[in-house]
Amino acid sequence: MSTVGFIFDLDGVIVDTAKYHYLAWKKLANQLNFDFTKEHNELFKGVSRKRCLEILLNLAEVEATHEQFDRWMIEKNIDYLAYIEKMDESEILPDVPEVLEYLLKKNIPIALGSASKNARAILEKVNLLHYFNTIVDGTNVIKAKPDPEVFIIAANQLGVATNKCIVFEDAVAGIQAANAAEMISIGIGDAQILSEADYNFKDFTEMGTTFLEKLIA
Ligand code: BG6
Ligand code: MG
Repeated sequence: MSTVGFIFDLDGVIVDTAKYHYLAWKKLANQLNFDFTKEHNELFKGVSRKRCLEILLNLAEVEATHEQFDRWMIEKNIDYLAYIEKMDESEILPDVPEVLEYLLKKNIPIALGSASKNARAILEKVNLLHYFNTIVDGTNVIKAKPDPEVFIIAANQLGVATNKCIVFEDAVAGIQAANAAEMISIGIGDAQILSEADYNFKDFTEMGTTFLEKLIA
């Protein structure tokens, strides 16, 4: 049993898919005559697809039947998948493969902890699936971030105590979920937005192996 485990969020930490979510939601928003901006998209980070649509309908002041709601969820995902289909390794965020390789060489267990139901397909597209000992995603959880469920399942599957897990997250809801699970939270992105994190880095290029060694120790 390893003493520490590393858990990575996917969207915004491993790959920059927020832009594709944005384009797909914007297309739906246009149909609803709502001007969906990048600022609105911030509210969607780390949030489940269902909750995103609820927020969008609220913003657009649109009421939907269950059937319409489900149809819009499907439509948005079809548009999103069209972008994913074209993804390749060039869309991996800087230094992510280096960090994963470093952990693999040290035999540190690695999990994915993502809200996305498309997580496995995306990891396959960018050829990173083999680094992960376990994938916990939107298909495995009942409660969405900021609930800690996704990270607690990941820790259990890695066989690592929750307080020995380190979580990388780009979303406020994700940092809150990691903190609620009593894990070490590392914010990737804007330190002001992710001020609740234990540590902050703009991206993995800022981190360096000395910091990783410190975490492992
Ligand atoms: C999260 C994203 O990782 O996954 C959210 O940050 C997204 O923006 C959520 O809504 C669900 O993704 P999907 O792929 O299941 O629609
Ligand atoms: Mg994210």
